[in-house]
Amino acid sequence: MFRVPTIVSLLLLALPTTVFSSPCVTFDATFNLLVFGLNGKDWNAGTQDTWSSGSAADITTSGRPPFDGENTTCYLAQFFNTVYVMNGDAANPSSVHIYDAGTKSWSTQSVTTGSFDPSSFNTILDHDTNVFYALSHGELFFLDMGGLKAANSSALSWTDVSKSPYGDSYQPVMALAQNHIHFLNVPDTPAGDAQIFVIHFSFFQPEPQAYPLPDGSAFPATHGQATSFFQENGVQQEFAFIPDDGSATYVINVETNTTQSLPGPSTKDPKAQYAAGITSLVQIDSTGALSFLPYKQDDASTNAKAAWAKVANVAAVAPPGAASSKSGSAGTSASRTGSTSPSGTGSPSSKSTSGDQSTNDAMSLSGRGMNTLMVLAGVFSIFACFL
Ligand SMILES: *[C@@H]1O[C@H](CO)[C@@H](O)[C@H](O)[C@H]1NC(C)=O
Ligand SMILES: *[C@@H]1O[C@H](CO)[C@@H](O)[C@H](O)[C@H]1NC(C)=O
Ligand SMILES: *[C@@H]1O[C@H](CO)[C@@H](O)[C@H](O)[C@H]1NC(C)=O
Repeated sequence: MFRVPTIVSLLLLALPTTVFSSPCVTFDATFNLLVFGLNGKDWNAGTQDTWSSGSAADITTSGRPPFDGENTTCYLAQFFNTVYVMNGDAANPSSVHIYDAGTKSWSTQSVTTGSFDPSSFNTILDHDTNVFYALSHGELFFLDMGGLKAANSSALSWTDVSKSPYGDSYQPVMALAQNHIHFLNVPDTPAGDAQIFVIHFSFFQPEPQAYPLPDGSAFPATHGQATSFFQENGVQQEFAFIPDDGSATYVINVETNTTQSLPGPSTKDPKAQYAAGITSLVQIDSTGALSFLPYKQDDASTNAKAAWAKVANVAAVAPPGAASSKSGSAGTSASRTGSTSPSGTGSPSSKSTSGDQSTNDAMSLSGRGMNTLMVLAGVFSIFACFL
């Protein structure tokens, strides 16, 4: 009789374990490019001048989240040289994982969600107050990170601010500039206009603001990803908007109320995630490939000549799509926001390609699992004859 449990355990061993993961990309306060959860590891690609050759440094260390979830997103708290990771652990979707880039140490902040849904939101981290603002199912929430560079023993809480005027089905596309949250593709808002939430007054502006291109045209009213450029000091003044079709990169300046149109990313991927430093916009696509667009504020002629290029030192150590291992592929990524996620990179987003890749991998694993199961079932029936 003991043979039956033995076979059952063999069957269990043979079952495929599918692990999804989605990397996230951000910067530290000196604008080294950081990539977390890519091919199972975390990487420091250094500053922009070093991206085109060599090898990114492996900064994988203890205390990190498993990066096994979908829609993982990460955010730089510039004043604190600290990164906050959301959805880094599928088993604990409400936790915020904190990476102190100065001491290279991780800790896990427990967070009470209340009515906030950590599986569907987009968020920005306010530069000056270090408070996250998130839109989820049409409701605006905040999460005050205080000055945390490491987790507090007491839980933090998502706090409900109010219902947004944008409707429950609005898939947030949002970015921060001048302490104002800009919402794009809001229903019934003209192309080229953003709706605004003024953080310091906790106030939804009643009228949208127009950000025309120099030729009078407008960025499209469509879903996409948005992320803010940093300044050396002080609040963000500009943010990039990349429509899901990747047809262009729009940079919106909230000082001049204008928009520049720059080339769209070479990889058109609605599930890609973006992060901006001061002088670059970085894309991580759903296969885990990184590329960047050099950028210079207030220099339209330089920007007009800029072209997307690979972040080669990350590809050298974490080849895109490698790993069937899936670490590489992002099931989704932040901001992700994919559609719903934060992006601010948003936030959680979803990456598709990688999603596809993960699905393919999962299917092939399942296929292998099924073959094994069939063999084992055959063995089992042979044993059963003897029982
Ligand atoms: C990831 O994001 C997609 C799109 O918003 C959402 O449908 C899905 O539930 C999210 N997954 C998780 C685990 O949060
Ligand atoms: C961390 O915990 C201490 C003590 O409970 C509390 O005074 C402090 O406000 C907390 N910090 C944050 C950011 O919540
Ligand atoms: C840009 O728009 C803001 C908000 O509507 C307004 O306060 C500001 O004066 C505008 N700036 C310029 C240069 O038009």
